[in-house]
Amino acid sequence: MTQRILSGMRATNPRLHIGNLEGALRNWVRLQDEGHTMFCMVADYHALTTMGDMPPDLAHNSREVAKDFIAGGLDPERSTIFVQSMVPQHAELHLIFSMVTGLGKLERVPTFKEKKDDLAEGRPVSYGLLGYPVLQSADILLYRPHGVPVGKDQAPHLELSREIARSFNATFGVELFPEFKNIISEDESRATLPGVDMRKMSKSYDNCIYINDTEEETAKRIMGAFTTPTKIRKTDPGVPEGCAVCQYMRLYVPGYEQAWDEDRRGERGCMQSKKELIEALNEYLRPMRERRATLDDGAIDEILQAGAEKARDFAADTMRQVRAAMRINPI
Ligand code: TRP
Repeated sequence: MTQRILSGMRATNPRLHIGNLEGALRNWVRLQDEGHTMFCMVADYHALTTMGDMPPDLAHNSREVAKDFIAGGLDPERSTIFVQSMVPQHAELHLIFSMVTGLGKLERVPTFKEKKDDLAEGRPVSYGLLGYPVLQSADILLYRPHGVPVGKDQAPHLELSREIARSFNATFGVELFPEFKNIISEDESRATLPGVDMRKMSKSYDNCIYINDTEEETAKRIMGAFTTPTKIRKTDPGVPEGCAVCQYMRLYVPGYEQAWDEDRRGERGCMQSKKELIEALNEYLRPMRERRATLDDGAIDEILQAGAEKARDFAADTMRQVRAAMRINPI
């Protein structure tokens, strides 16, 4: 059965890295290719919840993220690619949901505690940051989806979305919002791809490989990547589980098992592994990079305009039903 699927990525940065690609985008593309009806959102409002002293250039970030979506395999002819703030119903449903969500629930969301601790010294917690999962619930439920593909870290947000859906339905006596499913990546090693230093891949750690890097940049990143620290000579044994190069080889180098065995036995040097990985990774990213290079701002703006129109049509229909259920409008 074809299903309706909604997912989103924050436009905190203008570039997606291979962690985003393997952990999220790849699943969206698979679902698209299986024929499902996809709504793929650039969550620009969400990027405002944790901004530092400088507001991000969202217009720029959103375009660039959308380019990476398409580079990674989303097809705007088949999937609806849109920017959250271009569909005003997200803000409207967020307001309504904010009336049916208890403060205590939001304060207990684990990502809220983490984000609160991450804020710069002395920066107050904004109302918007507390409401982050309420906005996310609006993002999701506007499209009354069957499923939402996300990483594991998002599970608490999706649980809250389902609670909001249930409580809205019960309060207003409707069956408007469905019990959607979490679609979690079945491939653990893709879902948790480490950075080149083996920490979580994140722009703030400067340990990312970006879809839109050049081949030289990718090569340089891999050459400097973390390997088994006690492996100095080729004949020293390596520990592939703790080596960034080996972790990437698992995804990108066919027959990596043999390379891992040789590494463990001290029969292969890190340099050989790095060279093979650079070759394979650049080959994997090449068609994406080429596709990305064909998309200028004009082309992407047209795609985002068309995507927003489709998303608005669907979202407006949901909002009509929300208002009718709540008996909001006198006329
Ligand atoms: N919170 C998600 C993240 O940090 C991004 C997001 C915003 C999202 N709205 C969404 C994901 C709706 C799925 C559905 O990755």
